[in-house]
Amino acid sequence: MTHPLLHALGLSERNPGTYLGNGEWSGTTPDADIEVFNPSNGQPLARVSSASAEDYEALMRGAAQAFTAWRATPAPRRGEAIRLCGEALRRHKDALGSLVSLEMGKIKAEGDGEVQEMIDIADFAVGQSRMLYGLTMHSERPGHRMYEQWHPLGLVGVISAFNFPVAVWAWNAFIAAVCGDITVWKPSPKTPLTAIAATRICNEALKAGGFPEVFFLLNDGGTALAQRLVDDPRIALVSFTGSTAVGRQVAARVAQRLGKSLLELGGNNAIIVDRTADLKLAIPAIVFGAVGTAGQRCTTTRRLIVHESLFDDVVARLAAAYRQVEARIGDPLHPGTLMGPLVDKAAVRRFEAAVEQARASGGTVVTGGRAVERPGHFVLPTLITGVPPTAEVVQTETFAPILYVFPYRTLEEAIALQNGVPQGLSSAVFTHDLKVAEQFLSASGSDCGIANVNIGTSGAEIGGAFGGEKDTGGGRESGSDAWKAYMRRQTNTLNYSDALPLAQGIKFDF
Ligand code: UN1
Repeated sequence: MTHPLLHALGLSERNPGTYLGNGEWSGTTPDADIEVFNPSNGQPLARVSSASAEDYEALMRGAAQAFTAWRATPAPRRGEAIRLCGEALRRHKDALGSLVSLEMGKIKAEGDGEVQEMIDIADFAVGQSRMLYGLTMHSERPGHRMYEQWHPLGLVGVISAFNFPVAVWAWNAFIAAVCGDITVWKPSPKTPLTAIAATRICNEALKAGGFPEVFFLLNDGGTALAQRLVDDPRIALVSFTGSTAVGRQVAARVAQRLGKSLLELGGNNAIIVDRTADLKLAIPAIVFGAVGTAGQRCTTTRRLIVHESLFDDVVARLAAAYRQVEARIGDPLHPGTLMGPLVDKAAVRRFEAAVEQARASGGTVVTGGRAVERPGHFVLPTLITGVPPTAEVVQTETFAPILYVFPYRTLEEAIALQNGVPQGLSSAVFTHDLKVAEQFLSASGSDCGIANVNIGTSGAEIGGAFGGEKDTGGGRESGSDAWKAYMRRQTNTLNYSDALPLAQGIKFDF
């Protein structure tokens, strides 16, 4: 029987997974199905067809055609189109938030929060559509005007991960749309249903408003079509969210054809708890950061660096809080649940392997450390002390609710620990000491793309640029001037004089 939450969004037991444009979805190909499972009980939820090679070509043709019209649509009109998407998402927030929760396993409040993030970025994009500003420069030549303008880039390939199955697409797709681009989305094969629902909601809103459709969708159970997308010179920008290992391959392949890439890769985020920290703020921030989304955010707090004077107290408080969370592990759609399952069995195995490795490296499991005996992919939130900070397991991002805790004595030591991993996404310090806060935020402080004071590492707002340094890949999405990645810059110099003076004072008489 089809789950009622699928019905609510027009999904059924078998779903065509590829949107070719002009209202056309590719037919189901039974031998190339993606089977979607409910992570809360391991039961099958529905099937989605993979795109064929012909589908891929048809899609790319449609997308290229759509771009020709869309790039000539005035940007504020494109903003109006995205306003309609935001409105439609407001109407579907409850249903889509529930579907995110059902398919991916994050709790309902976070599923709804994810849709809210889509709505927020839609609002942001509407404003941005009137602010795609270029600069004017003073020409060194008389009677000349020099300025720059930003033009649409083309087709944007978005390869997204299961953990934010719709919000990360919206960060890319809505900003790309106001920039005049067409997006071709390849979602995670673990979350194709939310991708179909989001594509449908947004394209239908565009159609109802008299706008052309600008969101194309490509589902593939394997990696063949994603690789094709990465290598396709018709894709001007590949925006990839996923592991550092795969991101490295994507970057190399896109670079090979001199395309552009935007990478949002792994994080290994730390919170420093300074001697002066207000633990009333720090403890809930750490718990939400470490166990929220069952530790499957790229901004999840994975390392905790605590001043030695507070170490025992903080560990004891966290252990108590973790036991409260333990009592509220379960069905993510249930209102009282604080932590849902991991996405699949393989994720549980990776969690178990990491705990094992931490123990082998000298770690002590203070609480948690094992899977929960029940159907579905549930594990206990886990607190580990005593692992050397340089141990491989600490240096690696494991997408699970494991928090490694380390003591420190001096701020320099804490900052060195915080920066002493290959990744550089998000970071935070809890302190009431202005000097500590400023040192943490200074050029000699955190080396991450995101650095916070008295708030945790996860749950960033869309208004800022999101992304990180080092193995996190260097890309920036969402707010601030991240829109520039989705446009091409053109420098224009105009001569309105009757002479042809050359720049740099060069004389060239003939
Ligand atoms: C991700 O985990 O891929 O800052 C994105 C956060 C969310 C986005 C996370 N706003 O935690």
